Amino acid sequence: MDKKVSELLNTQINKEFYSAYLYLDMANFYSSRGLDGFANWYEIQAKEEQDHAMLFYKYMQNNGEAVTLEAIAKPDKTFETLMDPLTAALEHEKYVTSLINDIYDAAAAARDHRTMQFLDWFVKEQGEEEKNSSDLIQKMKLFGDDVRSLYLLNQELQARTYSAPSLEL
Ligand code: FEO
Repeated sequence: MDKKVSELLNTQINKEFYSAYLYLDMANFYSSRGLDGFANWYEIQAKEEQDHAMLFYKYMQNNGEAVTLEAIAKPDKTFETLMDPLTAALEHEKYVTSLINDIYDAAAAARDHRTMQFLDWFVKEQGEEEKNSSDLIQKMKLFGDDVRSLYLLNQELQARTYSAPSLEL
């Protein structure tokens, strides 16, 4: 595998675990505010990010590339309002999309079609992640200021259940 592609894939394992950690921090924030539904939403999001990390990990192993696990950074966002994690999540997902695009570009430059095909799932997934984040911001803008509506939104988010990623390696 091209050295740059391999390095970027390895880095992405760390980025996805960091994403899991960041979302767990958001879940923790909402738990501390008594919003267990929001906490549930982000706990499941954290699980999905761990799945993403493992997909990169397995893909590298399956292709005979050495994996190097680096330290996972401390979540560095501070949350004060109930909206803060939602906007931070969208900003973070846009950043992750840019990372996936960078790997895709490197794979294309190296004519590494297999990696491009592997990344196709993530390109689509990022579209969904950004949409979910935007939708949540929209709902919070509409309903967040009314306690009864916030209660219902919290219940809606409580109903989210975890399912394993649709991509298998
Ligand atoms: Fe692994 Fe939320 O992107």
